[in-house]
Parts: sequence; structure tokens; C-alpha cells
Amino acid sequence: MYFFIKSYGCQMNSYDSQRMADLLTEKGHSAVDEPEKADIVIFNTCSIREKADEKLFSDLGRVKTLKDLHNGDFIIIVTGCVAQTRVQEIMKRAPYVDIILGPQDIQAVAEKIDEHLHSENVLVSTSLGAEDKFNRLTAGFHNRKVSEFLTIQEGCDNFCTYCVVPYTRGREFSRNVADIVAEAKKLIAAGVKEIILLGQNVNSYNGTDENGQRHNLSDLLFTLAELDGLKRLHYTTSHPKDINESIGRAHRDIDILMPFLHLPVQSGSDAVLKKMNRKYTAEKYFECIDMLREYRPDIAFSSDFIVGFPGETDEDFQKTLQLVERVKYSQAYSFKYSPRPNTVAAKMDNQIDEKIKSERLSILQDLLNKQQTQFNESFVGKYLSILFEKEGKHKNQLVGRSEYSQAVSVCANNINIGDIVRVKVTEAVSHSLLGTIE
Ligand code: 5AD
Ligand code: SF4
Repeated sequence: MYFFIKSYGCQMNSYDSQRMADLLTEKGHSAVDEPEKADIVIFNTCSIREKADEKLFSDLGRVKTLKDLHNGDFIIIVTGCVAQTRVQEIMKRAPYVDIILGPQDIQAVAEKIDEHLHSENVLVSTSLGAEDKFNRLTAGFHNRKVSEFLTIQEGCDNFCTYCVVPYTRGREFSRNVADIVAEAKKLIAAGVKEIILLGQNVNSYNGTDENGQRHNLSDLLFTLAELDGLKRLHYTTSHPKDINESIGRAHRDIDILMPFLHLPVQSGSDAVLKKMNRKYTAEKYFECIDMLREYRPDIAFSSDFIVGFPGETDEDFQKTLQLVERVKYSQAYSFKYSPRPNTVAAKMDNQIDEKIKSERLSILQDLLNKQQTQFNESFVGKYLSILFEKEGKHKNQLVGRSEYSQAVSVCANNINIGDIVRVKVTEAVSHSLLGTIE
């Protein structure tokens, strides 16, 4: 059969979608690039903010029309974070959905399709068994790019009061070292040059080796840095409370570990951070940043921000702006607070007016954009090392990423995807750079 997968939300979902595609490919199904060409449509969903999960229901409405017009079997599958927590609602609002699988049941996708072909029932599996998931994701890799994700840790025990993830991906689970190394080797053999290690809380990684000994994230980074053929390493997403000097040393000593770190702070106000249950203060965050800059002076930072958390005053918001001024980010993401089912913050008093949220978001985004532009402009006339990932829009144009994760476009006919080349930056355009090869 022909399958189409749409992945919403985070990089962990992209990873899961890719692994589902591998499983289906090995079963003899073929990937297509639009639902109109498919007879299996998979929505790998996200529920981090309300907008993300409402998107699912509008997309489902559209594929229902395709299903109605289709001759023969047409299977609609909902996987991921919305599937985990909203089974009843999906069955009620979209009774034509055939299979519902939580984020840690995606390994069952191929067998559920087979089962569905012999049954009329909606098949549901939401077990939250992370270990079983990884043990059963045994398919080889198909269609890998230059830069790929590798999930090393899943789930979350932090219970930030705004966040739905502990309810959708369950408790923290770290994969063992041998499995991660084996998967990294397979990726490298498939032509991958850059690996981005993924975890909801990647720096609380705590996996075991063959002797039962525990390894933390920096141990794992040192181990992976030894692999032949691997050119670049990243890890995301880190929680500031779990950053320690061992991460600083990894940034100092591992030459393939990129000097770029996504370290979400969410807010610059200690009062808001406390209500968010983030377990650090703004001062503690600054200490982290300073420590990492000491070990790796050129390290660039990105972050996530939430504005309009319940009870956030104008003064609290000013503290966020002050924090941004002090840290100076190379890029960042910012969101309006969105109340999520089951979370503590959704029930808090003093929910903030949408209009105020929008105003704050726009002020914050102006500042973050200004910093990103300044960061990018500081490279004009200088050299950056670029890993080329894909073709650009223009003839002979390739697009790659710098050590600091900036997108850089170059027109040249003597470079190939997968090459790492020294590029002279000629211009900073919105959110990216142009360069030449001398
Ligand atoms: N509302 C708005 N943004 C949220 N995030 C997580 N939960 C919410 C929510 N309820 C943001 C955080 C997180 C990023 C992945 O999404 O900033 O770091
Ligand atoms: Fe969305 Fe969070 Fe689930 Fe990722 S883990 S898909 S961001 S809800």
C-alpha cells in the first residue's frame, strides 16, 4: 500500500515518523508525498499548545473526504501525543479513524495495519512502554539525510506546570549505550555526517553500558565522538537545572560537538519560574551560561520563552526582556501560554488576557529578532565552516549550516551535499546568511 505521514510538533516526533516509515518500507509499503496519493494516512500529532492539536481535527476532516472517495482500503491512523491522551475525543469527533497509537506504541504500526485489514474495529494502543518501543524499532534505515536525529531519552519527570509532555510521553527513560552506539554507526554507514541526540530532557540522560554502569550525557558524547566518519554532534533539549561542568568540559574537549546550545529558560522572572516549577532562578541560569562560555567562549545559545503565564505581571515580563538583553541569543522560539488539559497551570488563577499575551509576544519577538540579526551580521566578512545539507532555490545553490546552526546559502558548482567547506560570509539576510567559497 502507499503511505503518507504528516509529522506535527517536535523533533522527537520527526524521529518517530521516520522510524514508522522505515518499518512500513520494510513491510513492502511505499512512501508518497501527499495524502491524495496514499491509501494509508498517518498523522503523528502534537499537543504542546492548543493550536497544534486543533490542527489535527481540521486535517482529519480533509482526509475523511479522501477516504469517502477512495476505492478499496483507506486507513487513517492517529499517532503521537494527541493519540495518547485524547482517544475518546478522537473516536467521537472522527469515528472514521482506524488506528490510534500513543508515542510509545508507534513500533506496532505495521502489525496494526495488517490486523486492521482483517477487522472492523478501531485499534487503540497507548501503553507508554518506552523500552519496548526501542527494542521493537528494528527496521533498517531508508532515505537518510546528511543530518539526522537519534532519540536517546524519552519522557519527562519534571512536571513543569504548563507542560503536557509528562502526560503524553510518560516517565523518563534512557536507552542503553550499546543500542545508541549501534544506531549511530548505522546512521553513519547510511551517509549521515551530523547526529542530533534527542531527549525531552537530554541532559538527564542516564543510560547503562554492557556492565550495568551508568553513563551521563557527557560520557555518551565522548563515546560517540570516537566514531569514525561522524563529523558533527548536537544534543537537544537541555533543562538548565541539569547543566553541569561535565557538559562544559565536553564542549571544550570534543571538537565535533558544535558550539550551539538550545537552553530554554521560559521566563526571566523568579516568581514565574517558581510557579512554572522550573527549579532554577534567573541567576542560576546566568551562572550556567557564564560557565559554558568559560569552557567554550564562542558558544551560541537559543531558548524557548512562554509569555502570559498565569499571574505574569508587567514587571515579570520586563525581567524576561532583561534576561534576553543579558544573555544575547543567536536565535529563539517564543510562545503565548496555552492552557493544557491535566496541567497544574491550566487551573491557576489570574489567567492572562489574550490581548496582553499578544502584546508581550510581539515585544519579545522584536528583541529576539534584533539579536538574531546582530548575531548573523557579526559574521559578515568572516569565515564559517558549513556542512551542506540540501539544494537551494537557485541554480547551483546549496544550503548548509554553520557550527552555530545558522542556515547559510552558497552558489558554487564544486561542492556536494555532505561536504564541510570553509565559506566566507558575504551578507546577512533575514534569518540566514549568504556566502562564497574563495
Ligand atoms: N503553552 C505555551 N508554550 C508551551 N511550551 C510548552 N508548553 C506550553 C504551553 N502550555 C513551549 C515551551 C517549551 C516548548 C517546546 O514549547 O517553551 O520549551
Ligand atoms: Fe508536541 Fe511535546 Fe509531544 Fe513533542 S513531546 S509532539 S512537542 S507534545
